[in-house]
Amino acid sequence: MALLAPSILSANFACLERDIKEAETAGADILHVDVMDGRFVPNITIGIPVVESLKKVTELPLDVHLMIVEPEKYIPEFIKAGANWLSFHFEATVHHHRTVEQIKELGAKAGIVINPSTPVSFLEEILPFLDFVLVMSVNPGFGGQKFIPTSLEKIRKLKSLKEKLNKNLLIEVDGGIKVSNVESVVKAGADVIVAGSAIFKGDISSNVRAFKEILKNY
Ligand code: DX5
Ligand code: ZN
Repeated sequence: MALLAPSILSANFACLERDIKEAETAGADILHVDVMDGRFVPNITIGIPVVESLKKVTELPLDVHLMIVEPEKYIPEFIKAGANWLSFHFEATVHHHRTVEQIKELGAKAGIVINPSTPVSFLEEILPFLDFVLVMSVNPGFGGQKFIPTSLEKIRKLKSLKEKLNKNLLIEVDGGIKVSNVESVVKAGADVIVAGSAIFKGDISSNVRAFKEILKNY
């Protein structure tokens, strides 16, 4: 079964606990937390203290997506705060292997994120060391953008690399995913679906249930 990871970026930040509880009760599997620094991406969101507070109000594993420069500097603090899955951008550092090992040694699942223009072939050497890859299907920085259709071919390419190099790898996809296109994303090979605006804008419970109804078949 493919997993659903609602992104709190589109939740009501004044009522985060309420929105998260609603998604959790309706069947969300993982909570996706977008950390932006205003340097790697043109937007600023939340950081370590918020992850620490979220940890206290949800049982869901926290999937922290770092959109920051020099991610290696902050990894110990994010894991200490409660990140269970931690990913950083391929484009944000040159020390991929060292950073992945650092995350795993501290006890979290390690992932690398690739921007829409970064080829999956760049991951070939690091793939055996990864727990997951996060494929961006929009340019990182904002919720509510349109899914880039060429992402589907990229997911298929990554799936075939995974079959050769790391069968346990999970493929996570993030950006522009709605109930209307999620089936094409899981058919291409996604194991974990991130959705922000399609979950938190409108009725959270029925949005989660509509996604889960499709994901349970994969
Ligand atoms: C964008 C973030 C996403 C974002 C997705 O940079 O990484 O996680 O919340 O939002 P939607 O699902 O609305 O495209
Ligand atoms: Zn994200």
